[in-house]
Amino acid sequence: MPNLFSPLVVRSVQFKNRIVVSPMCQYSSEDGFANDWHLVHLGSRAVGGAGLVLTEATAVSPEGRISPDDLGIWKDEHVPFLKRITTFLEAHGAVPGIQLAHAGRKASHTRPWDGGKFIAPDAERGWQTLAPSPVPFTESEPEPLELNAAGIEKVIADFGKATERALEAGFKVIEIHAAHGYLIHEFLSPISNKRTDQYGGSFENRIRLLLEVVERVQAVWPKENPLFVRISATDWTEGGWTADDAVALAKQLLSKGIDLIDCSTGGNVAGARIPLGPGYQVQFAEKVKKEAGILTGAVGLITTPEHANDIVASGQADLVLLARELLRDPYFPLHAAKTLGEETDWPSQYLRAK
Ligand SMILES: Cc1cc2nc3c(=O)[nH]c(=O)nc-3n(C[C@H](O)[C@H](O)[C@H](O)COP(=O)(O)O)c2cc1C
Repeated sequence: MPNLFSPLVVRSVQFKNRIVVSPMCQYSSEDGFANDWHLVHLGSRAVGGAGLVLTEATAVSPEGRISPDDLGIWKDEHVPFLKRITTFLEAHGAVPGIQLAHAGRKASHTRPWDGGKFIAPDAERGWQTLAPSPVPFTESEPEPLELNAAGIEKVIADFGKATERALEAGFKVIEIHAAHGYLIHEFLSPISNKRTDQYGGSFENRIRLLLEVVERVQAVWPKENPLFVRISATDWTEGGWTADDAVALAKQLLSKGIDLIDCSTGGNVAGARIPLGPGYQVQFAEKVKKEAGILTGAVGLITTPEHANDIVASGQADLVLLARELLRDPYFPLHAAKTLGEETDWPSQYLRAK
């Protein structure tokens, strides 16, 4: 069995270990541009030894941002600074990956440290939010606009154009964000999708947007490069998306050529009761891996080297994504190697501290 420090080859890309920087919004962009913050933030985690560094949710259109301060990839001018980041990540042994996202009905909010409040479309910095159906996320927010056929085609086209730019910027992995109650998840879940056309109703109809996005991305993305999808494996709510739905979806995504399912949960139902605890979502990565036969990533409250190692060594998941622990300690992979008695390369500049 492999462990946390076993390399993994997916298509023609090799990850030097199984530790992934989970996507984390930084709310630090102006007009979607990456800047020094993103270079230092992501770059530090490459220097810290992560095998794959994923960017935060990167908006495929301005209206697809969670906040006006989100990172974006909706215009060609965004590419050069992203390229600088991917060049640095690769130079330090990390595979550069990008999470492509559309926030749907959860768009147009202030950043968390400004309260995370809804910004009305007619207010400064606000815009009209879009969704499968006019169902707001919380009662205090107005109804989002239901996407019509042209709106859906624009979303799909935006993912395609973003993929062209991601390729030009030097990313080697794309993760399509279909989790956490954002646009694609809103289509997947019967709680937020009340449509009666071919994008709503049955399971097959609700997954259609995601499959069409996947096809458009694949039309551009080279076959040598891995393509991941992040899902919420359950809505943790009666009548919502379930773990069995996640398995059924994963089987279809596998047959379409998706390489890995990153298994998160929740985010589509305000106030859902989630049994938080160490590794509380790992069971979903394990179920999807075993029942759909696809590579999976585990994420959520994984904070120790031993736990991360066990997840890989016991075959529950193939990659381990860490978010907050890597904010606390960008050098977690180097420290984990020491704890686990694994030999790992340190940056030459830091060798005297090894
Ligand atoms: C600051 C912050 C920003 C986040 N932004 C994103 C994001 O852009 N995309 C995403 O899929 N998840 C996002 N998440 C969720 C994390 O990727 C991860 O799934 C979650 O924090 C659980 O992992 P952890 O317990 O290791 O923090 C974010 C989490 C944090 C703490």
